[in-house]
Amino acid sequence: MKPVKVGLLGLGTVGTGVVRIVEGNQEDLRSQVGSTISVEKIAVKNPEKARNVVVEQSKLTGDPWDVINDPEIDVIIEVMGGVEKTKEYLLEALENGKHIVTANKDLMALHGAEILAKAQEKQCDVFYEASVAGGIPIIRTLIEGFSSDRIIRIMGIVNGTTNYILTKMSQEGASYEEVLKEAQELGYAESDPTSDVEGLDAARKMAILATLGFRSNVELGDVSVKGISQISSEDIAFAKKLGYEMKLLGIAERNGDQFNISVQPTMVSQSHPLASVNGVFNAVYVHGEAVGETMFYGAGAGEMPTATSVVADLVAVVKNLKLGVNGLKAITPYKPKLLTSDEE
Ligand code: HSE
Repeated sequence: MKPVKVGLLGLGTVGTGVVRIVEGNQEDLRSQVGSTISVEKIAVKNPEKARNVVVEQSKLTGDPWDVINDPEIDVIIEVMGGVEKTKEYLLEALENGKHIVTANKDLMALHGAEILAKAQEKQCDVFYEASVAGGIPIIRTLIEGFSSDRIIRIMGIVNGTTNYILTKMSQEGASYEEVLKEAQELGYAESDPTSDVEGLDAARKMAILATLGFRSNVELGDVSVKGISQISSEDIAFAKKLGYEMKLLGIAERNGDQFNISVQPTMVSQSHPLASVNGVFNAVYVHGEAVGETMFYGAGAGEMPTATSVVADLVAVVKNLKLGVNGLKAITPYKPKLLTSDEE
């Protein structure tokens, strides 16, 4: 198969990791997919800025449309963030027949259904493993690993920034402001950390997980949200004394045909495995009727863990390209038309 050409939208923390993995693991990736994968064009805000990774200056452009409209590009990796404008870019990229890999939970939680519908129409893949829980392959697990089961509850620590803050407050008695600043410097926090600390980032991720786990369209508005900005070191110390750890917990529960979904600071018993998920780590606990209790753990944010999921999606797109099944084997859980075989 001819070399696969990738266009990257964004070269921040995750984009840098993507370039490092694609270039650094070139041989291994080729051995898996049977063709060379190369990042050909990268849209950045400021092409003149110094970078943490070596990229040829000629690959950089200040205009995302240069990437979207380049007929040579097969796959777009979107790691620039943003919602409305980014949606416009991705819809146009799909219109141009390009496959998409995105890490954008905001976009997928708000417009996933529309984007995936367009992807089906154009027979393109849209993969978004990195949008939830960074390096943990939880999206594939919910769609494929549990396709045989009926999930009744998902509980998640799905925001690394707040877990990092709560852990440091609990273990070191550090102040909220001090640790938030550290999390921002480490590249965990969103550009506006309000969405981390007020629980919105976790709510978006829970909406995606619930949609996949319950095979139902769960909207962001269905999630009740409360963040950690009002939690004090005293609250945490008090919880500890009683045998609990304070965690920002997302809980999605099936209740007959209804779903209850929330994100809120929760006192988790120290004997529960979720209580020992510390720092930037995330964990997702999934309870299925048949399988029982399972739990998935790993780094939920940061350059290389998140880029691992992005590049794994890229590999999936390229394998589909090879088989000629793009858009058919895509992860399309939102009202999955292609899966309703009675219509075919
Ligand atoms: N701000 C997010 C977090 C980044 O802290 O989890 C990864 O989605």
